[in-house]
Amino acid sequence: MARTTLVKDLLVFLAFFTHYAVSVGPPDSMTERFTGLGFLDSGVSGGLNDMPRASYTMAQRSWGMLPLPCYDTAVTNGYCDPHDIDVWDVTYGDCEVPKIFCRCISSPMSIDTLAADFGYKIPVKARQWIDTVSSYPAPEGGCSAWNGGDHLNFFGDCTDKMSVWFHEVAHSLDCWTTPRPPSLPEAFCYSDTPTEWSNIVLNGTCVPDNYAKADWAESWAQVAVMSAWHANVGNVWNLGIGCMQAQMSKSIEQLAGLWPWVENATCDRWWDNDWEEICMGDVARDYGACDGENTQDSSARHGDGDNGGHNRQAVGKERSRTKGLPNDSDAWKKRKEGELARKLRAEERAGLRGRKTRSGGRRG
Ligand SMILES: *[C@@H]1O[C@H](CO)[C@@H](O)[C@H](O)[C@H]1NC(C)=O
Ligand SMILES: *[C@@H]1O[C@H](CO)[C@@H](O)[C@H](O)[C@H]1NC(C)=O
Ligand SMILES: *[C@@H]1O[C@H](CO)[C@@H](O)[C@H](O)[C@H]1NC(C)=O
Repeated sequence: MARTTLVKDLLVFLAFFTHYAVSVGPPDSMTERFTGLGFLDSGVSGGLNDMPRASYTMAQRSWGMLPLPCYDTAVTNGYCDPHDIDVWDVTYGDCEVPKIFCRCISSPMSIDTLAADFGYKIPVKARQWIDTVSSYPAPEGGCSAWNGGDHLNFFGDCTDKMSVWFHEVAHSLDCWTTPRPPSLPEAFCYSDTPTEWSNIVLNGTCVPDNYAKADWAESWAQVAVMSAWHANVGNVWNLGIGCMQAQMSKSIEQLAGLWPWVENATCDRWWDNDWEEICMGDVARDYGACDGENTQDSSARHGDGDNGGHNRQAVGKERSRTKGLPNDSDAWKKRKEGELARKLRAEERAGLRGRKTRSGGRRG
């Protein structure tokens, strides 16, 4: 059944602060209420795939340079030769600041599908917490994704799998918009809290599905997908979810101002797209397509694109983008902490991916 394959589609690799956590995630003893959440994508009365749509325009950037997160993710993980990445600025009718899309030319998703699925269907108040979306092929097929803070990475064909998109956006909302207990370090996301979310989950006897047991962050994100459905498609309480009443109520409350699609809503914050631009590599350099590059930075990068995309020197490159938020705000500090965590995640992700591939677990 489609539902069972969609469970595996929801592979997200988000590092977790286990040293602060009481336990890794919901216990095995909890019931899995559904077999994946793919059933929320469509249905007789519509689903997340049928969300209302905002208009957009897009413009492709000239070949040669890549925004830092696109370059680093592609190269660090060996997902795509940087020379093979197209960069688009997509501007939605409800927000004047464009989103950046980086699409590996061998991705099975077209730029139009990417732009439409993300921008049309993710309501602006949630979408405004993401600024960059990358799309790569999935060597093993299927659809999977992971979240890099404000940068989403999709693998394979995720067309009409809006539950996956909402899940990924939810990870960002967990970190950026959902209040944490003030006693916690800035780097924490809400679901990282030692006992708050876990106690709420443990108040019930079930979780949304098997994937919600991966860790507390996944648990939060899966319930958030159900909240998105509740906010826009149907009454979630009609799905027989009394066994997860506390989780569901909390999530609906936390995301009430973010998930609903509201006519004529516009963005009220954004990340400035002032990423450092990185030369794709020597081929682009030889073509004179990197003439604007900062040669001091690029000295360590020569040959990056021509070695199969595995140059790890790109990891840990500092980025400077402080205009989106006042640099003394909590969110800004949290973001700086988040950048450190993401560097670690990128390393971990490379290892996780290798293991998953060998066991076939990443197949969709
Ligand atoms: C769950 O929360 C409700 C409402 O606060 C409370 O009455 C109930 O005792 C809790 N159940 C458990 C198992 O914690
Ligand atoms: C949305 O904007 C359109 C065009 O300006 C207007 O006609 C419509 O009444 C607005 N809808 C709401 C709910 O404000
Ligand atoms: C924040 O910005 C101010 C003004 O631009 C600057 O003087 C200060 O050093 C910055 N603080 C940090 C932590 O970067």
